[in-house]
Amino acid sequence: MTYVVTEACIQCKYTDCVSVCPVDCFYEGPNFLAINPDECIDCAVCVPECPVNAIVSDSDTNTPNLEHWLEINNTLSKQWINITKCKDPLPTAEEFKDIVDKQHLLEK
Ligand code: SF4
Ligand code: F3S
Repeated sequence: MTYVVTEACIQCKYTDCVSVCPVDCFYEGPNFLAINPDECIDCAVCVPECPVNAIVSDSDTNTPNLEHWLEINNTLSKQWINITKCKDPLPTAEEFKDIVDKQHLLEK
């Protein structure tokens, strides 16, 4: 099991999730964070920290395309740089926080 960052994070990147992770398993790209599924210990403390509810369990049956997001987290977390401290959200966060369809905007 692992937790997974999903579409809602794109163009927002609030980073509140990062400051609470006990094992520092978040990795940062240009407009998205990814969780390394091999490092996540399934504690779930990051879940309520995300203002846009982007983080879900990989057993969450309500999230569309969850397998796809798990694969994205797995791949990108191994390419990106580890992030351990909260920082300002992207300037586009307010504009994009309620937009549902933004997968095409993901920068790798
Ligand atoms: Fe980190 Fe726990 Fe969230 Fe996994 S579930 S990313 S270990 S805070
Ligand atoms: Fe993304 Fe939410 Fe963390 S927007 S950076 S998953 S707090």
